[in-house]
Amino acid sequence: MQSLTIKGFRILKGYLSPEAQIRLRDDLRAVVAQAPLRHYTTPGGRRMSVAMSAAGRFGWMTDRQGYRYSETQPDGTPWPPIPDSIMAIWQAEAGSGREPECCLINHYAEGARMGLHQDNDEASFDHPVLSVSLGDPATFRMGGTSRADPTQSVLLESGDVVIMGGDARRAYHGIDRIRFGRSDLLLHGGRINLTLRVVT
Ligand code: SIN
Ligand code: FE2
Repeated sequence: MQSLTIKGFRILKGYLSPEAQIRLRDDLRAVVAQAPLRHYTTPGGRRMSVAMSAAGRFGWMTDRQGYRYSETQPDGTPWPPIPDSIMAIWQAEAGSGREPECCLINHYAEGARMGLHQDNDEASFDHPVLSVSLGDPATFRMGGTSRADPTQSVLLESGDVVIMGGDARRAYHGIDRIRFGRSDLLLHGGRINLTLRVVT
């Protein structure tokens, strides 16, 4: 695996100490107690292998009506606030004058993956997406700003933080596979990825 060369992609390896990872995990347990992980359906009718929840003003979701941000969960309740432990990472590393309005929570159980996509449901590409990985390692794939561009991959491990700004903000990316069972951070194993985004 190589390191990524696209402009605006920064990886902070081992950013979170084991203790900080445990604190984050516990904060996330409180979030998913109020906003359970759900397997959404794509507009095309496929059930996503990744289970999702969110914190903040908006959650990202999808159903037969399309991909979108929503101020409420599918059951009509608001999303819980973004925990301070997560806000602190954004404040220290995002280099943005704005606060994140969505902390998307992705859970990858054994065999889950995420196809190559662009994050483009936000109002502008001016603000970075900051991502935090917890639990099992995963192969992250990143291409260029058009789908046909060549791709590179990099291993993301528990405690790694990635910032996608500049060209990387508009780049196609996805998760090929996780290495299930390598980490004991999460109760039922697997991987959690958080992405912090400015939405409006
Ligand atoms: C995403 O693109 O939403 C998730 C990326 C990841 O799981 O690292
Ligand atoms: Fe994404």
